[in-house]
Amino acid sequence: MVFSHKFSVVSLMTFLRVFHVSFSCDKHCADRPVFTPARLVVKHGDPTSADCSVCPTCIDIQYDVESPVGDTKKSENKISWTVHRMTEWQPSILCYYTLPPQVQCCSKLNLTVYQPPDSVSFNFNHTGPMLEGHQYTLQCTVQDVAPVENLIVTFYRGQTALGKPQSSINTEKKPVTEIFSLNITTSKEDDGGQYWCEAKLELGPEGPQPPPVVTSQKITTAVYYKPQRMSTDSDIITVAEGNSLQLNCSAVGNPSPSYTWTSANPSYFKGSVLTINSVTSAHKGQYNCSVSNHVGTLTVTFNVDVEVSYIGIIIGVIAAVALLVFIGVVVLYSFVYKANRMGQYNLKDVFRRADNTLSCPL
Ligand SMILES: *[C@@H]1O[C@H](CO)[C@@H](O)[C@H](O)[C@H]1NC(C)=O
Ligand SMILES: *[C@@H]1O[C@H](CO)[C@@H](O)[C@H](O)[C@H]1NC(C)=O
Ligand SMILES: *[C@@H]1O[C@H](CO)[C@@H](O)[C@H](O)[C@H]1NC(C)=O
Ligand SMILES: *[C@@H]1O[C@H](CO)[C@@H](O)[C@H](O)[C@H]1NC(C)=O
Ligand SMILES: *[C@@H]1O[C@H](CO)[C@@H](O)[C@H](O)[C@H]1NC(C)=O
Repeated sequence: MVFSHKFSVVSLMTFLRVFHVSFSCDKHCADRPVFTPARLVVKHGDPTSADCSVCPTCIDIQYDVESPVGDTKKSENKISWTVHRMTEWQPSILCYYTLPPQVQCCSKLNLTVYQPPDSVSFNFNHTGPMLEGHQYTLQCTVQDVAPVENLIVTFYRGQTALGKPQSSINTEKKPVTEIFSLNITTSKEDDGGQYWCEAKLELGPEGPQPPPVVTSQKITTAVYYKPQRMSTDSDIITVAEGNSLQLNCSAVGNPSPSYTWTSANPSYFKGSVLTINSVTSAHKGQYNCSVSNHVGTLTVTFNVDVEVSYIGIIIGVIAAVALLVFIGVVVLYSFVYKANRMGQYNLKDVFRRADNTLSCPL
């Protein structure tokens, strides 16, 4: 037994030398070696380990773990493989056994070596303010990440995800630097928006939880757009004579627009709101408000109709009539009063006369 054991070790060593050269991993054998855990996700430079158990019921087999890194320790159809520092990017870890002369069986460890990005930076293919309605390219540069196939890059405006562009280098296992890009067409709503990108390594349930995420700096954008009006005041404005008039031409634009008013009235107005304190019929007519910045011009036309007020005239007429009536009443009253006073004197005379006439006959 001792002899045979020694012999088997020696033969295994000679066999291994041959084996390394001509090894072909037959993964279709019946009783394949089993790695525990079944999958390893290791950060580059970190330690790791796995066990491999080979055909527990077999006797007198030759078995081992073949790896460019780490140490192995064997006992009872089981191999412990340990690595103090994972320095390889795509090591092929094979666990095998042979049962000469026919049986060769092997399993490959499902191993992912990763490295989160060193840095992630965001930029536009443009500097300075952008123009509304134009196309720009967002760029996210992810520095030294591995494996790039597990990388998910997302572009954001504020908290809104804009898109997840795919990597163009899919199979490289060593760290790569890649520029991801996304085309956008700017709108007015993008003005003042914060753009950024995020790089996330999705390594599955065996990987680190939560997955490593590196975010870029944020860039606040300015988008120039031509003046636009929120409210659409009705074109025709009717105002009564003597009242005040306000024409509100306020518009939003970037850069802030300037206002120019033109009308048949030879008055000069400045600003977004034209105010006339007391309207006369002379203010009737068309008022054009031209709002402009260097992106464009918006023209708003107001048609002002002035209603001539009859209330004053009516009040005047009523007052005149009332005055006339009052005068008439006063005149009439004074006349009637005079007449009455004369009547009283007559009445007294009558009484006096009546007293006299009454005492006389009795
Ligand atoms: C490794 O494991 C992952 C996750 O379970 C799986 O998606 C992948 O296909 C496996 N790779 C191989 C080569 O078996
Ligand atoms: C930015 O990219 C867009 C679309 O890809 C292109 O139309 C535009 O000319 C580019 N601008 C600059 C400054 O490179
Ligand atoms: C962005 O647009 C430019 C020019 O229009 C085009 O060449 C480029 O392929 C586009 N990029 C993406 C990521 O769609
Ligand atoms: C003019 O209209 C804008 C909104 O369109 C409003 O914010 C502003 O207060 C108005 N100005 C006046 C003087 O009514
Ligand atoms: C206002 O603009 C219209 C065209 O938009 C023009 O026909 C009209 O003459 C202008 N009125 C004034 C008072 O400038």
